[in-house]
Amino acid sequence: MIRKVCVMGWPITHSRSPLIHNHWIKTYGIADAVYERLAVPPQELNATLRSLNDWGFIGANVTVPHKEAVFAALMRHDAVAARLKAVNTIVTTDMGLEGRNTDGYGFIANLKDRAPFWLASDGPVVMLGAGGAARAIAAALEAEGAPEIRIVNRTRTRAAALVDDLKLKAARIYEWTDAASALAGANLLVNTTTLGMKGERDLDISLDALPARALVTDIVYTPLETALLRAARARGNPTVDGLGMLLHQAVPGFEAWFGVRPQVTPELRALVLADMGLAEEKN
Ligand code: ATR
Repeated sequence: MIRKVCVMGWPITHSRSPLIHNHWIKTYGIADAVYERLAVPPQELNATLRSLNDWGFIGANVTVPHKEAVFAALMRHDAVAARLKAVNTIVTTDMGLEGRNTDGYGFIANLKDRAPFWLASDGPVVMLGAGGAARAIAAALEAEGAPEIRIVNRTRTRAAALVDDLKLKAARIYEWTDAASALAGANLLVNTTTLGMKGERDLDISLDALPARALVTDIVYTPLETALLRAARARGNPTVDGLGMLLHQAVPGFEAWFGVRPQVTPELRALVLADMGLAEEKN
């Protein structure tokens, strides 16, 4: 029997998950597997989840706008999804469908891959933004041992809700206009807002107070080098772009569905970049 997996979202046309997983299916010679896009309007989400196995799917990825609704609809979750109340990966277990969340794993794995010298426990981290991605990243950074998480968000109440909901132990909230002062003594600066994305305004914060050894990363990957990463690189900070998070978050799902732990290779990165109409940038 063909083992089918899908990515469900609404709309779903832009998802790069099929490209990533079908590359691995080919690379590892998994003959009976296929990964598809499934456009699921919100009003059909619950029925889709109920029928998923009957339609031949052994699992799924979940993207915008369904991550929270899938969490609510499923009976079982792993610890990370339970903490985030959001699901990006569905696995069929003996007990039925289980919701997992690998976004935070992908974020950390990307840093370990591209900046192996960096340690979360070495100092405070500064996170710009407090949306869904920020939640996954804050939880993962705390789990990695970050001693303090400084959250800078335009809407302060949203940052406060993030800290409350995740019960972050060592978080500090900064006003958006105070971003520059949050950077003093920091060991990591991560942008989780949409600023800097193609078509959006650039992030415009002064990096003057940021230590030169601090790692700077962005979850925006179109363009690959955002204005933030360019400014950081110009003053000598190590930087990591956001494409690797997308690639690494796919690893645990593929392993759970097909029993092979796939590698994030330069070849896969080039494939996704080409699909986005981008080429690797040379420093
Ligand atoms: P995601 O789930 O992808 O993280 P999101 O939940 O829409 O997306 O979150 C977007 C983040 O970008 C939020 O932190 C948002 O700030 P608010 O909480 O104040 O809305 C931030 N953001 C978006 N546009 C912004 C802008 N023009 N200036 C500052 N922050 C912005």
